[in-house]
Amino acid sequence: MERTLTLDTLKAVGKTVLLKGWVNSVRSHGKIVFFDLRDRSGLVQVVFQNPKDNLKPESVVYVTGKVVKRPEKLANPKLKTGKVEIQASKVEVVTISRELPFPLDTDGHDIDEAVRLKYRYLDLRRPRLNRIIRTRAKLVKFIRDYLTQEEFVEIETPMLTKTTPEGARDFLVPSRLQPGKFYALPQSPQQYKQLLMVAGFERYFQIARCFRDEDPRHDRAYGEFTQLDLEMSFVTQNDILELIEAMYTAMVKEVFPDKTISQSPWPRLSHEQAVKKYGSDKPDLRKDNQDPHELAFAWIVDFPLFNQQTQEDFFHGAGKNAKLAPSHHMFTSPHPDDIPLLDKNPLKVRGLQHDLVLNGYEVGGGSIRIHDPKIQRKVFELIGFTKEQEKQFEHMLTAFTYGVPPHGGIAPGIDRLLMVLFNEPNLREVIAYPAVASGQTAVVDAPSQATPEQLKELHLKLVK
Ligand code: AMO
Repeated sequence: MERTLTLDTLKAVGKTVLLKGWVNSVRSHGKIVFFDLRDRSGLVQVVFQNPKDNLKPESVVYVTGKVVKRPEKLANPKLKTGKVEIQASKVEVVTISRELPFPLDTDGHDIDEAVRLKYRYLDLRRPRLNRIIRTRAKLVKFIRDYLTQEEFVEIETPMLTKTTPEGARDFLVPSRLQPGKFYALPQSPQQYKQLLMVAGFERYFQIARCFRDEDPRHDRAYGEFTQLDLEMSFVTQNDILELIEAMYTAMVKEVFPDKTISQSPWPRLSHEQAVKKYGSDKPDLRKDNQDPHELAFAWIVDFPLFNQQTQEDFFHGAGKNAKLAPSHHMFTSPHPDDIPLLDKNPLKVRGLQHDLVLNGYEVGGGSIRIHDPKIQRKVFELIGFTKEQEKQFEHMLTAFTYGVPPHGGIAPGIDRLLMVLFNEPNLREVIAYPAVASGQTAVVDAPSQATPEQLKELHLKLVK
């Protein structure tokens, strides 16, 4: 017999069906056992007489039985299938589940996170997490379809690459074939996407994994996170903001219909206004921040192009000689009106940067890029690049000598957006297999030691 999904039992009243799934919860009444069977479509109640074995929750069972309508009074309005139940003639236990390390019928926030992550594959059975991960897939699909419709091309860029600095430390991967050399995992696809504009694609996007070795916070993942990375040629800053605004507005309507966007068009504030009025460059503009359904998007523009360089910038390899660091990244274009200030008063130069803010979180950042090699060199000089540091980015300057279109883009964070949309307290709640603050990964034991043979092959020696 072919398998029927629990949700489809509603259309099968009177028929005998074969259901496959997990035992969700068991209630024994003497010789009659009631249990909910769970599969990817939901739950249905099963009634079984005279079971031979004890049914253990979370075991996998195949149930053969007749779908019957429940009497009106006994219908369960909490279940989509609450109007029917299965009168089982056979319950085959396919695999047994041991007792779980934690309950699944709560939201799980109060359970020790280390244990939840060790058994993440069980934690993900929890209805709250299951719903988040499924909704995440819907959101990403919405974005893919929307941008493809808008003539964007989805392009993958390398993971084993050279440093693309976004202000964090790089993860390095030793090369076996070239002793003593290392790849860096990309902090973002920034350079590749700009080079795709030189290549003439005009509209690029990618659901991109980014790797950053930086101290985690509740809204900053350790190690890796996901961006919607996009780039466009022949556009103004306004074109980029309008595209994202229209797409996110449509996405919220379709994927999060319970949410309301508090103000449309989204307010735009200069960096100076935001800091003066709200004391923050990511102000929370909700009218009522007790309301879990309100979404207050805003754009922040006109950031200063440079900040005073910090010790941290220095450590991450920004210029070794100077006191300025790029406030977004070194490819961001200065405001055209402020170019004369680059020499006179660089801290007064505004950048064509835009940040997307939602309920007090920075959920995206981007800019119009420099496309003039002379200005790019000037910025390298101002952030104190040595000749050697500058050489690391020579490929960009070379590419820009072959007909580079004016271009710009943005990279909204997917994890952070979902964290806000689901009102979750941290990013790990919206990621299937997150790492924790120590860098320890979920389920598998990483990082872990390499064998002496592996180290030898990679030409590495560990210093004790
Ligand atoms: P930026 O570094 O500002 O820009 O990152 C863009 C967005 O990515 C998200 N984000 C993170 N989310 C989770 N954990 C992290 N550790 C983390 N770091 C960043 C945020 C942030 O707004 N290449 C540029 C974009 C561009 O210029 O087009 C970039 O990566 O939501």
